[in-house]
Amino acid sequence: MANPNVVGPLAKGGAGSEKWRQPAPTLSPKPFDERLQKALDKALYAGGRRGAQQFRNFLNGTWLGEPLHAVLKDLPIGAWTMAMIFDALALNRSRREFARAADTAMAIGVAGAACAAVAGAADWSDVGPQVRRTGLIHGLLNLGATALFATSWVLRKKEVRTGGRVTAALGYSIMVFSAHLGGRMVYEHRVGVDQTGGQVFPEEFTAVLPEAELTNDKPTRVDYKGTPILLVRRGERIFAMAETCSHFSGPLSQGHLVDDSIVCPYHYSRFALEDGHVINGPAVHPQPCLEVRVSSGQVEVRKTRAA
Ligand code: FES
Repeated sequence: MANPNVVGPLAKGGAGSEKWRQPAPTLSPKPFDERLQKALDKALYAGGRRGAQQFRNFLNGTWLGEPLHAVLKDLPIGAWTMAMIFDALALNRSRREFARAADTAMAIGVAGAACAAVAGAADWSDVGPQVRRTGLIHGLLNLGATALFATSWVLRKKEVRTGGRVTAALGYSIMVFSAHLGGRMVYEHRVGVDQTGGQVFPEEFTAVLPEAELTNDKPTRVDYKGTPILLVRRGERIFAMAETCSHFSGPLSQGHLVDDSIVCPYHYSRFALEDGHVINGPAVHPQPCLEVRVSSGQVEVRKTRAA
């Protein structure tokens, strides 16, 4: 039987095959962050169950038109900032009301952080390798900050005020650094940003493809001055929209059609061909759609006037 750990002729046991002896190929294990991301994605996908998709749509913010995490994260940041201010006032003025306000703000922040963490984890399950590790560190730091604030709250309840304030200050410092990492993910790597932003589409009807070349039910990519446009013919109707997926730039022309919608090949966001609205996330931003007409045997498109 061939030895699976040996490659080359030796694997077949051939005579004189010693010189082909090579070290067994080692499959390097995938990095921890990648394995964790895959496991999380699998859990959230839950075998494609409808309920799981709806839950994921909710966490991603598909219903909101913005990443839910971006909204929820303001809650702990704001609440913990207020807690820091109330702590300072309580120390300065020696007033019991300020101490109580700090405790309340801290508890609100912990609850908000827990919600933001769940939404953030759903977003992280789809990010590309260039930000995967940064995203994981961001998440772990936030968990650490939340744990410190929760500890601070418990200490305060036990009237260990000084310990509670020190723990909270430490948690706040970690949160600030983590917020910096989150900012880098958005402003540098454009996570959660509409990837079609800045794309230029024709203002007036412009021929992009001979009509005869547009096959029924076949997503087709055409280009206008370097901007890819998706054309789909469905019987008598022709649809046109940005070909770049608004989520993470997946090529929609390589996706597949489900009724009058297109599914992205990268993370399976589903967009209505009629108006580009997101039917299923993780995308949260709609696809820009174009007006289409056929003139002199050419498919012509232009920017939707209403937009
Ligand atoms: S790139 Fe993520 S769904 Fe299209």
